Amino acid sequence: MNLNKTEVAEALKKVKSPAGNVSITESGELKNIQVFGKEVDIDLEVKSPALNIRKKLESDINTVLFEAFGDVKVRINIAAKPIQQGPQGPPTMNKVKNIIAVASGKGGVGKSTITANLAVGLAKLGYKVGLVDADIYGPSMPLMFDIVHEKPKVQVIDGKQYMMPVESYGVKVMSIGFFADPRQPIVWRGAMATKALKQMFGDVWWDELDYLLLDLPPGTGDVHLTLVQSVPVTGAVVVSTPQEVALADARKGVAMFQLDSINVPVIGLVENMAWFTPAELPENKYYIFGKDGVKGLSEQLNIPFLGQIPLVQSVREAGDVGRPALLQDNTPVAELFKQLASAVNQEVENRNTTLEPTKKVEITTR
Ligand SMILES: Nc1ncnc2c1ncn2[C@@H]1O[C@H](COP(=O)(O)OP(=O)(O)O)[C@@H](O)[C@H]1O
Ligand SMILES: [Mg+2]
Repeated sequence: MNLNKTEVAEALKKVKSPAGNVSITESGELKNIQVFGKEVDIDLEVKSPALNIRKKLESDINTVLFEAFGDVKVRINIAAKPIQQGPQGPPTMNKVKNIIAVASGKGGVGKSTITANLAVGLAKLGYKVGLVDADIYGPSMPLMFDIVHEKPKVQVIDGKQYMMPVESYGVKVMSIGFFADPRQPIVWRGAMATKALKQMFGDVWWDELDYLLLDLPPGTGDVHLTLVQSVPVTGAVVVSTPQEVALADARKGVAMFQLDSINVPVIGLVENMAWFTPAELPENKYYIFGKDGVKGLSEQLNIPFLGQIPLVQSVREAGDVGRPALLQDNTPVAELFKQLASAVNQEVENRNTTLEPTKKVEITTR
């Protein structure tokens, strides 16, 4: 028996949407059906790209079609539904939906490592992801993405020249490191740093993105202020180690985003170097920087806790060879990085359903 599209559509009305008590037809998640003889192609667009949800949808669809038509070949393609946020900022950023600043109070806590893995993780979830390496004092993304020798291409669009980000592991990367001689220390100061950051937004053709992640310099300085005045930052992720000195600085970082004059929601906190696990004793955990310090801080400040990443040698090595640790096959830390990316995605969705889009901070001059 050959399939008929109308009958397939009718049968699929029995499949429940993961979003609630309606069918995938009513929810609009069912995008397209194509029938070729005894084969059917189904395109879906769902809000949550979590693996268990995809798997359940696939199995529900297969069951319903099997009950209706017997043994037919079903191909299911599930895309992630882009999250809605209003555009604001330079025209090059009009199609960027969520701008996430990754910050830390202290340097060296692994902010860049976390940002790189988050970017790759979100891309793996099916999102369009860009990354701005805004740490003008120590750009590390060219190395972490193995694109040290790349240079962004220039393209003319509507008569104006734009830089194109460099793509690696599915992430569009732009770094101040592309323009600086790696042998020279970067001593960008004040005005220079500010100008560079603005160019990373206004002069780069970002096109459509679900997420643009920003690797900010450590601390709470000029660059942060320029950032919130240049683009509407959806939210901030703050990275810290559980160590007391790092926590104190993380607290300052959170307080900066929460200032009335800045008002960027803090999406959550990440605990890096949460414990040390040696390769030869994978079951052992040594809490060398203290235990659950960041988790405790998030409870105190009533901010979501996004996850813990251990200190393991392979994370450092992965950074140094330019292949983020999340891409390792089946290592525990790769799994933790994937969970972290899902947690960030989930909290951004929560933020977008409960809060108004962020407004760019207006500069008031007297
Ligand atoms: N979880 C981790 N396990 C092992 N090494 C790590 C981990 N996180 C960061 N590192 C290493 O620590 C150093 C500092 O990390 P980095 O991400 O550059 O920090 P930041 O951007 O905060 O200055 C790097 O050499 C990095 O590879
Ligand atoms: Mg860094």
